[in-house]
Amino acid sequence: MQDTTAGTAPDAIAKTGLPLLESLISERLGLRLKPEKRDYLARKLAPLAREQGAASFLAYCRFLQREPTEGAAWQRVVEALVVRESRFWREMGPILALAQEVVPMLLRQRRGRPVRLWSAGCACGEEPYSLALALQEAGLLRPRAVEIIGTDVNLSCLQEARAARYPLRAIRDLPEELRERYFVAEDGGKRYRLQEAIVRAVSFRYLNLLDREGTIRMAPVDVILCRNVFIYFSPAAIASTLEAFHAVLDVPGYLTVAAAECLARQYGRFRLVQMAGAYLYEKEP
Ligand SMILES: C[S@@+](CC[C@H](N)C(=O)[O-])C[C@H]1O[C@@H](n2cnc3c(N)ncnc32)[C@H](O)[C@@H]1O
Repeated sequence: MQDTTAGTAPDAIAKTGLPLLESLISERLGLRLKPEKRDYLARKLAPLAREQGAASFLAYCRFLQREPTEGAAWQRVVEALVVRESRFWREMGPILALAQEVVPMLLRQRRGRPVRLWSAGCACGEEPYSLALALQEAGLLRPRAVEIIGTDVNLSCLQEARAARYPLRAIRDLPEELRERYFVAEDGGKRYRLQEAIVRAVSFRYLNLLDREGTIRMAPVDVILCRNVFIYFSPAAIASTLEAFHAVLDVPGYLTVAAAECLARQYGRFRLVQMAGAYLYEKEP
């Protein structure tokens, strides 16, 4: 979490119930909230509590308990606390391995349904679109053969993903030739619009990874990309999400997390495999 309000005077709202509110947020969104960040959290949440007419964090907590995370009140919490940082062509090793080795292998094996690739925690689409670009470059982005789905808990991210217009900083790591081939500058270079054929290849939907049933409904899936999400999650949220991922993955099925998230102890039911020079987790049946 980045503290953009450092130095602001603490809000007058009663602090009663702040630990309870923290537990609720952690339980519903999976976030690991550090006790030393409690003042920061209070400053972020006080205006949101006030907006709902709550006189204390306890009252705000009781209100949030009754609301769904896709509702407006929780979406304000998501906007305030959940990091959405992403960019095209970020940590491409595993994605290129999918395009070079894993997807061709799955295409050879499957019969009767498309290969399903899921970007879980897709932010504004940068990751699933990077995958679509890599597959397109490899000649594998065929509509009935491959399906790419992006999901996120942040509704405004999903809206931006569908619009597929990005500032230059979002595509700064993309090789120049791909940028020229797949993006068109708009508004005098303020935004870059992604080519329609790539946009059509990815579908987006709301999903909170802490929603067990919703996650299970993603099955069957062949590959899950869940990168730079667990880094913000509590150990309990990571464990339950991994269990759900294991359940939705077909066999063979693969999971990729960010390099910084290689927490070997947590991946008991996945084994690390090397494919096309990248490390992926393969489901152990
Ligand atoms: C830091 S971004 C990473 C985006 C992309 N995967 C990448 O590696 O560039 C983390 C994303 O995870 C999403 N996220 C956080 N908690 C989530 C949850 N409980 N369910 C679904 N998505 C979540 C955030 O909204 C955000 O878009």
